[in-house]
Amino acid sequence: MRESGIFGENTKMGATQYVHGYSGREALRLNDQAETLSQMIHNDSVFAEGSLVLEAGCGVGAQTKIVATQNPASSFISVDLSQESVKEAEAAAREAGLTNVEFRQADIYNLPFENELFDGILVCFVLEHLSNPEQALDELKRVLKKGGLLMVIEGDHGSTFFYPDSELARKAINCQVQLQKQAGGNSNIGRELYPLLKSAGFADVVVSPRMVYADASRPQLVEGFIKNTFTAMIEGVGEKAVQQGIVDRHTFQKGITDLYRTAGPDGVFCYTFFKGFGTK
Ligand SMILES: C[S@@+](CC[C@H](N)C(=O)[O-])C[C@H]1O[C@@H](n2cnc3c(N)ncnc32)[C@H](O)[C@@H]1O
Repeated sequence: MRESGIFGENTKMGATQYVHGYSGREALRLNDQAETLSQMIHNDSVFAEGSLVLEAGCGVGAQTKIVATQNPASSFISVDLSQESVKEAEAAAREAGLTNVEFRQADIYNLPFENELFDGILVCFVLEHLSNPEQALDELKRVLKKGGLLMVIEGDHGSTFFYPDSELARKAINCQVQLQKQAGGNSNIGRELYPLLKSAGFADVVVSPRMVYADASRPQLVEGFIKNTFTAMIEGVGEKAVQQGIVDRHTFQKGITDLYRTAGPDGVFCYTFFKGFGTK
């Protein structure tokens, strides 16, 4: 079974590892949150007209639909390690009437493309799942043209704070952080984007925080983000966290109740995504 990360599964994603397909609920969740947050994270996901863009780790195509629609004069090649996800993404793109995207199964560590093929690259919620994001960035840089543009978007669970505050809610969130770490990933990678892009040798690196702030005056975010995205994701790791002895069932359930409580009439929830740009 797949556990949820902020925008997807929590499995250690290596080239040799089997990656399960998205459940219907997971696919719905990814699409729902992608729409809720699309403005915040993709308002500047703009590539020059005529660009050939690689989307690495496209999953079921939640971001593909947004960014390919937003850049009709660019062509996209969207790849994912999971053949099953690629098929779902392809079907979703067809349904959305997209004609500027081609999908392929591929491993971000070993891309089946010649050097310097792409004008742009988009990576969204993928590095947080990788055990070696540095190696992935090197490979992405290899296939990017000189002067080409890299965009990376990642979450950071350490950026979460809320009202009413709750130690048990923080414990529940920490279960996800621990499990993702065990799987080789890093739920707090957002804050590392700047050093990662710099040390990979990208130029003109600019990282900006994109904070989701939700209270009852923003009901769409309360539903779409606090409940259906963040808390649903944390809730999804409960069984495994209990099995592994990271937390006891009662504590976890109480933590989840407290997280849902932040979606109440006086609740407040903040989470920060990070978006990095770099050029080769
Ligand atoms: C959290 S999902 C994000 C999907 C999509 N970018 C989105 O935002 O909806 C992470 C994706 O990275 C993919 N992935 C993980 N390791 C990979 C690898 N080595 N090569 C290519 N894709 C990989 C997974 O299969 C999964 O679809």
